[in-house]
Amino acid sequence: MQMVETHPEDRPFAVQIFGSEPEIMAEAAQLLVELGVDTIDINMGCPVNRIAGAGAGAGMMCSTDSTLNLVRTVVEAVAVPVTVKMRLGWDADQITAPFFSARFEELGVAAIAIHGRTREQGFGGDVSHAGIRQVVEAVRAIPVIGNGDVRSVADAAAMLRNTGCHGVSIGRAALANPWIFRQLQQWEQTGSWNPAGSFDERLELMLEQYGYLEQRLGPERAIVQFRKMAHWYLKGMRVRKRLRGSFQEVTTRDEMHSALQQIREAGPVDGNRSGVLTDVQIAVPRGPVDKW
Ligand SMILES: Cc1cc2nc3c(=O)[nH]c(=O)nc-3n(C[C@H](O)[C@H](O)[C@H](O)COP(=O)(O)O)c2cc1C
Repeated sequence: MQMVETHPEDRPFAVQIFGSEPEIMAEAAQLLVELGVDTIDINMGCPVNRIAGAGAGAGMMCSTDSTLNLVRTVVEAVAVPVTVKMRLGWDADQITAPFFSARFEELGVAAIAIHGRTREQGFGGDVSHAGIRQVVEAVRAIPVIGNGDVRSVADAAAMLRNTGCHGVSIGRAALANPWIFRQLQQWEQTGSWNPAGSFDERLELMLEQYGYLEQRLGPERAIVQFRKMAHWYLKGMRVRKRLRGSFQEVTTRDEMHSALQQIREAGPVDGNRSGVLTDVQIAVPRGPVDKW
């Protein structure tokens, strides 16, 4: 319930579910619709063993009948649009996304989001635009959303151009550069876009986000929950390691504000407070994918 809390302005609101049991998935979808969720997304992309090994997430890409049955059951259980997020397939020898996309469209799925890697690739190797294009070509009328490694307007343009997809979705880059959506919107509307926020704008945004969290949870819980997000912000801002470390240790609002004051005064490692800041690497599972 906490994970699906939202704000009235945050519309349309889509929630993703994962699992391998059709009845439970259908029930979850119905519950979410009762809560006012606008669309339901089914996760068929998760490569992590706990999920994929149990026949959910990317594991669904290996079994045709049960997967089609599960998606059909969810589509029939709710009146809102149901979408599916998947990878290209289990590995390079089993590229099942085009097949599933075409079947899902027949079952009434409203859109497909496709991460252009296989399960075996994890987060390594290149995103295959050709693979995404195959999915675009496999469906008749539903939109396909290309995903994977879009970190800039140029990346989004390449994804759209190379694959013919109808939209892009962005994961990690949103953590590294929260302005990417505004940049894309400006690009779409005017052809040009403003740079990502400066060091001081990032600090302001970070505080604004923390403020919302504090309103919901109160300072004690908000500070603990905010650590992960603060880590991404501060890394992207090239804050010195020592100062990032001390921020992670704050337990009260006063401590947090004084840690931020120190960060503000010190500025980024290279002293450049404006313009484009470096990309940040978001941690992903590594090593042999069968051990995840
Ligand atoms: C830490 C982490 C958690 C993720 N969790 C989900 C998830 O719950 N559902 C999902 O469909 N994809 C999830 N993804 C995958 C992303 O949605 C996306 O497909 C992938 O990161 C590639 O896109 P990107 O390069 O824009 O990040 C996750 C990725 C990361 C790094």
